[in-house]
Amino acid sequence: MKKVLMCVLLVTFMAAGVLFFYSLASAQGTARYVGVEKCKGCHTKEYKDYESRKFTKAWNVLQMRGKTSDGECLKCHATGYGNGGFVSEESTPELKYKQCEACHGPGSRHADNPGDSVALEGMKTYIRDKDICIKCHVCMKTHKEADF
Ligand code: HEC
Ligand code: HEC
Ligand code: HEC
Ligand code: HEC
Repeated sequence: MKKVLMCVLLVTFMAAGVLFFYSLASAQGTARYVGVEKCKGCHTKEYKDYESRKFTKAWNVLQMRGKTSDGECLKCHATGYGNGGFVSEESTPELKYKQCEACHGPGSRHADNPGDSVALEGMKTYIRDKDICIKCHVCMKTHKEADF
């Protein structure tokens, strides 16, 4: 019984995941992912906080395990993977690991013009609208099943 329940839960999470990555495609109009280097000049305070969290650590472990081109890992361990963001370490090195835009959404439109109120509103509400954290933090079973 417990196993069945776990299975049902897992399938639900997976379906939610697919919907999530699909729905991101239309978010924040035509904005693209640009990477943290573009944000840090204007958002020094948030950048310091972000930097102190060492989000890059897991990337180094991914590297050691030869997993930096495994899509299964990249959907949570890179920014905007499968959604016009991270593609590969060679072509989009600026979007490795979890960055500002993994939580706040693609930011080119806002970064190019902070006075654009539609884009600004998008940056403000993205986390809440998409219920963003649990998309990646929900199901650590993913890790156990990947057997590493
Ligand atoms: C050219 C300067 C500039 C750049 C580059 C920039 N921002 Fe901003 N950002 C601003 C300004 C100005 C505001 C408005 C601040 C306010 O209304 O309190 C803002 C607001 C925001 C907000 C909403 C804050 C709130 O009040 O909730 C978020 C989130 C944000 N920026 C994220 C980013 C991210 C992520 C990037 C990089 C992709 C980025 N910004 C790049 C200047 C910039
Ligand atoms: C569903 C999203 C998701 C997927 C898929 C995923 N991860 Fe993770 N991973 C996370 C999250 C979230 C954390 C942070 C966990 C925490 O610190 O609470 C993490 C942490 C890690 C860490 C760091 C552990 C540490 O102690 O710092 C490594 C290494 C890692 N993952 C490797 C992988 C690999 C390899 C894959 C692909 C086989 C993968 N992950 C797939 C979400 C995911
Ligand atoms: C782990 C997810 C996450 C990451 C990564 C992240 N933020 Fe945030 N950020 C948040 C949350 C959550 C809030 C609070 C939002 C709210 O209250 O609606 C926030 C708030 C903000 C604000 C509003 C002012 C404030 O301090 O409350 C700005 C500006 C901002 N972030 C910019 C950035 C920038 C720039 C980066 C990258 C250097 C970044 N964020 C990385 C989750 C994140
Ligand atoms: C794109 C997937 C993704 C999203 C969205 C996401 N996270 Fe994470 N988060 C990760 C991964 C992967 C790690 C592991 C990074 C590492 O250990 O180096 C992590 C690590 C963390 C950590 C531990 C960082 C530290 O200090 O070492 C915290 C706290 C965290 N996330 C909070 C949040 C919150 C709050 C939100 C929502 C506002 C959020 N995350 C959204 C993937 C994500």
